[in-house]
Amino acid sequence: METSPDSGVAAQAPVATVAPVLQARGVFRFRTDEGQQIPVVRDVSFELRNQEFATIMGPSGSGKSTLLQLLAGLDRPSAGEILIAGEDLAKGDEEYRASVRRRKIGFIFQFFHLLPDLTVHENVTLPLRILGQNPKRHAGRIDNLLELLGVQKLVHRLPSALSGGEMQRVSIARALSTQPPLILADEPTGNLSSKAGEEVVALLRAVRDKLGTSILLVTHNPRDAAAGDRVLFLHDGALQQAAELTGGPFGVADVFHRLQELGI
Ligand SMILES: Nc1ncnc2c1ncn2[C@@H]1O[C@H](COP(=O)(O)OP(=O)(O)OP(=O)(O)O)[C@@H](O)[C@H]1O
Ligand SMILES: [Mg+2]
Repeated sequence: METSPDSGVAAQAPVATVAPVLQARGVFRFRTDEGQQIPVVRDVSFELRNQEFATIMGPSGSGKSTLLQLLAGLDRPSAGEILIAGEDLAKGDEEYRASVRRRKIGFIFQFFHLLPDLTVHENVTLPLRILGQNPKRHAGRIDNLLELLGVQKLVHRLPSALSGGEMQRVSIARALSTQPPLILADEPTGNLSSKAGEEVVALLRAVRDKLGTSILLVTHNPRDAAAGDRVLFLHDGALQQAAELTGGPFGVADVFHRLQELGI
């Protein structure tokens, strides 16, 4: 029998590999402005490790929201690849992207986007119903989630009877109701008081610690960014990879210092 030079290696037990929760490779997004193709996201490549809490900082207009919409499959890149837990978002049509999004991603918006006519409990369990699952079968887990976010006493209220901080905590519970491996948050503290914003960021860290959810948060608030394990910097649509901060959480001064170095 012929043996290949590699057979010794092949005979070893295979190492279990788990795809990183998020991989972006060479992602571009152009917008057309008066017939001109303007890059809003330029050659963005990075990975989010499983159970990592990373933040992306960048000034207004640097492309943070555009990038997050691409990563969520809400928009298509002009070029490049985006993989969510190994599933290529570019491979399919809108229906396929929606299916990946519903199963794998929880999205948190600056302006909450709670449905005004549904109670807190109905809002939180809506993503389960959209997936065709009966919320009653997840009752214990949903109760734990509501407790973790400190909103268990608010379940019968309508969103109009909540403070901004409470609305955002309900939004986080909603984003987690289907147990996605990835949370994408776009300026989740942008519409909150400083204190409520700090609570929300601390809760996102607690969610990562207790549930193991990977989190990518975009912000132009250095205090929010400082809470991450890693801070990436976006400038004019491009990641400043050499400037990345690792080994967080950081002091706010560390983030300010790096922003100054980058001139942003
Ligand atoms: N629908 C659109 N059509 C054309 N240009 C757009 C559109 N949306 C965003 N842009 C432009 O793309 C660039 C990036 O916008 P984006 O909203 O991603 O920035 P951002 O970093 O999220 O800013 P902010 O901090 O203000 O939220 C900006 O120059 C913006 O004007
Ligand atoms: Mg934005």
